[in-house]
Amino acid sequence: MKSFYITTAIDYANGSPHVGHAYEKVLTDVVARFRRLMGDDVYFLTGLDEHGQKVQQSAQKRGIEPIELCDEAAEAFKGLCQSLDISNDDFIRTTEERHKDVVRTLLQKLYDEGEIYKSEYKGYYSARAEQFLQEKDKVDGEWPEIFGEVTEITESNYFFKLSKYQDWLIEHIKTHDDFIFPRFRAKQVMEFLKEPINDLCISRPKERLEWGIPLPFDEDFVAYVWFDALINYISGVGYGTEEFDKYWPVDYHVIGKDILLPPHSVYWPIMLKACGIALPKSLLVHGWWLSSGEKMSKSTGTAINPLDMIDQFGTDAFRYFVIREMNVGQDSNFSFELFMSRYNSDLANDLGNLLNRILNMTARYTEGQIPACETEGDLEKELWTLWENTGDKVIGLYEDFQFHTGLDKTFAFISSINRYVEQTAPWKLAKSEAEDDQKKLRTSLYVMAEALRLAVGLLEPVTPGVTEKVYALLGYESSQTWKERLQRSDALTGRSVGEKTILFPKPQAEGK
Ligand code: ME8
Ligand code: MG
Repeated sequence: MKSFYITTAIDYANGSPHVGHAYEKVLTDVVARFRRLMGDDVYFLTGLDEHGQKVQQSAQKRGIEPIELCDEAAEAFKGLCQSLDISNDDFIRTTEERHKDVVRTLLQKLYDEGEIYKSEYKGYYSARAEQFLQEKDKVDGEWPEIFGEVTEITESNYFFKLSKYQDWLIEHIKTHDDFIFPRFRAKQVMEFLKEPINDLCISRPKERLEWGIPLPFDEDFVAYVWFDALINYISGVGYGTEEFDKYWPVDYHVIGKDILLPPHSVYWPIMLKACGIALPKSLLVHGWWLSSGEKMSKSTGTAINPLDMIDQFGTDAFRYFVIREMNVGQDSNFSFELFMSRYNSDLANDLGNLLNRILNMTARYTEGQIPACETEGDLEKELWTLWENTGDKVIGLYEDFQFHTGLDKTFAFISSINRYVEQTAPWKLAKSEAEDDQKKLRTSLYVMAEALRLAVGLLEPVTPGVTEKVYALLGYESSQTWKERLQRSDALTGRSVGEKTILFPKPQAEGK
């Protein structure tokens, strides 16, 4: 059986984790958890991109070996995965032998088949972007800031015959509607492919860059870092072994929009095609987190350390915020004000208070045991009708990566549970001794607990910790599938609830 295989980009070892990295991992994790809950056999790969000039330079500056810097970064990024509750199955580092082996194998194969040739190159080079530039990369006659210092160089290098595959690639994108999500990004790629593409320089002379994988057919050169890095997606799932067919072709490469063109939409498909390997089924391209309209990044000093936020507000609050706020594919502004408002209104008030009201009232009125449903009136029917219009819809939205809308709908349902509590007013019913009121009281306690159980079930891919905690506090255990758990049942009747718990504590006054 083939697995559902999903990857993140592998982060540059040169930087420290920021919100952009954290978001991409959470988004991928939400898809992975969702597919697992839907019954798929999921394989989830993430990792670290460790070679290249920037790593070499940073290590030099600090007077340490590049591998020491990479080891530190690997600790940091693995730590990030842990703090974010990421359910990755593996973490690949491009300095691992299993990876370097595959890179060398493919380079040799392409060289033997005449897909790689040697030639002299003269032109502009940006060390910061680690790429060769052309006149057309200038803006108003100047090199844009992002390229840092640009120098003119002449050198011999190895080239991969990219241009020969241009027409094939155009055809592939035209005939595979699902290749790039969202669709509008495919248009950008087609636009790019209207101009002739150049062959790709895939080597760097050792005297300029040592920190890379030596070319198997010429040890005076190392592989260009993108050529090396992209291959992680296959080296990480055992390319060359029998295992590989279980995972490949990948279902989704999750990437940011800055690395769609040209690496993931041009280099990677052509590299695979030239090697005779099947193409990815789909690229899932997300937008950027912005800070005052600019891409958050380390180099502009606008990066927020997600670990600080997780320390203060918890993993699930962070996960909830980024998934609730970002429409997958678009950009979104990151602000503490927005975060605090979601935290306070959605999580602490709507969800957290509801849970505690249920726990309190159940403790007070039915000795901590969730009662049975004894009578159903209009308010109950209304709430269950809303549920019928929520559960399956949210699953459909998740299937289309519309997580922000799915969460919106889920929280609309949670608001309705709160409204139900206000309308049934169990505290009033409790004052009456009439048997009818007592029945209504027990029913209302049952209904609100059951509705909350259903709602947090829908949150499971996004905030697995919350789901687990609320299940435990409602005394709920189940070996059913997710879809079964999302059906109404009487499973809660007779369960003992836990003690009052603050799921989302109010932060200290200074707050930020
Ligand atoms: O590009 N908002 O690594 P990287 C959203 N090593 N996403 C962001 C972001 C932001 N502000 N900033 C970065 C690389 N990202 C390469 C990838 S893959 C074979 C090699 C995303 O550390 C970015 O779009 O610069 C990318 O998908 C990921 O973080 C890693 O970025
Ligand atoms: Mg980047």
